[in-house]
Amino acid sequence: MLASTLARRSVVTVKSNAARSLSVWSSVPAGPPDPILGVTEAFKADKDPRKINLGVGAYRDDTGKPYILPSVQKAEEIITASKPDKEYLPITGLAEFNKNAAKLAYGADSAALKDGVIAITQSISGTGALRIGGAFLARHYPNAKVIYLPTPSWGNHTPIFRDSGFEVRQYRYFDKKTVGLDFEGLKADLKAAPENSIVLLHACAHNPTGVDPTHEQWKDISDIVKEKKLFPFFDMAYQGFATGSIANDAFAVRHFTSQGHQVALAQSFAKNMGLYGERVGAFSLTTRDPEEKARVDSQLKIVIRPMYSNPPLHGARIANAILSDKALNTQWEGEVKQMADRIIGMRETLYNMLSHELKTPGDWRHITSQIGMFSFTGLTTPQTKALAEKAHIYMTADGRISMAGLNAGNIHYFAQSVDAAVKGNL
Ligand SMILES: Cc1ncc(COP(=O)(O)O)c(C=O)c1O
Repeated sequence: MLASTLARRSVVTVKSNAARSLSVWSSVPAGPPDPILGVTEAFKADKDPRKINLGVGAYRDDTGKPYILPSVQKAEEIITASKPDKEYLPITGLAEFNKNAAKLAYGADSAALKDGVIAITQSISGTGALRIGGAFLARHYPNAKVIYLPTPSWGNHTPIFRDSGFEVRQYRYFDKKTVGLDFEGLKADLKAAPENSIVLLHACAHNPTGVDPTHEQWKDISDIVKEKKLFPFFDMAYQGFATGSIANDAFAVRHFTSQGHQVALAQSFAKNMGLYGERVGAFSLTTRDPEEKARVDSQLKIVIRPMYSNPPLHGARIANAILSDKALNTQWEGEVKQMADRIIGMRETLYNMLSHELKTPGDWRHITSQIGMFSFTGLTTPQTKALAEKAHIYMTADGRISMAGLNAGNIHYFAQSVDAAVKGNL
């Protein structure tokens, strides 16, 4: 090669290296991959026909397909037929949807609802509701500095509240030995929390463990929160999904408010209406009186306006059509129950296969005692790795599986693979 060509090439290389080192973003470090999305990537790349994805927290029907609820389809038909416009919503969203979302969570006979003291705004699903809550509390909750999360919790809780300016601390929740609730640890940690701390509570279907307090335990938690002057922030992303009953799954929220607690509440309609990508949710706060509610409402708008101006329209219209029409609402409640029952059925089948048919070493009763979309199987990280590499079964490294990913077509293969992994035969 000619010396002049080489010289030209090296000038180009030097130039591009210089350009790179001069980039505004040259010191941005690469962040770690999202643990759950990483599972989906690995699943997508796997070509084996037996592959199963148990990482994703979205409902699948008994053939493993995404499920559009018939009530949602009907609501969309009604909306389309009415030829609605695409104008902006107000900052706090569709007022009618907000009223109905509050009724769903707090109960139609709730005193807070009747007294008109629930300050509520539509949000960008549950995540957006938590983020609005974080921003509002950081600005207005007296002595706001610390929030306690259960160990473990949904992976996004820590960054949401850290980005909102809170110091994130933890309270004990899951007992690895019993694969159940560490209720003594939970009580001790809440009792030791400094006054005015905020405590995040999963209202039902705790993610990732599938372990919920009993009603009696919720009553004790309510007493401790009151006695220690803590502030309860409920995350209710799965109302209806835990037991199949909207009212039953709202027990904790309704009990706390009946006991005079002021609460913050994040609601999501992603799972219980299958509106994942439509991003429908609500954030609410219970206030003392309508005058205080009006002040809180005004500040919610001030928090939201610079974030995204106003929320998306279509999903809120769907949810509102379902919540406001009696027949459609009854149909939807039946469909929520069907989804919950399918998951409960999968739990029973899996338990029977592991415990009775295959006699897989270990106690598998937690599979049926856990609740909601997820199960913390107790599988170890090496076992989950072996399941992915040898059996094409994907889950998070902590052994959490989405029960919704199991169906009549794959549960035998899954149980046999777990059995082999536990016996070391995979
Ligand atoms: C505990 C919990 N909270 C909130 C959310 C928020 O979900 P979304 O923003 O999709 O409504 C999820 C979703 O997985 C969750 O599991």
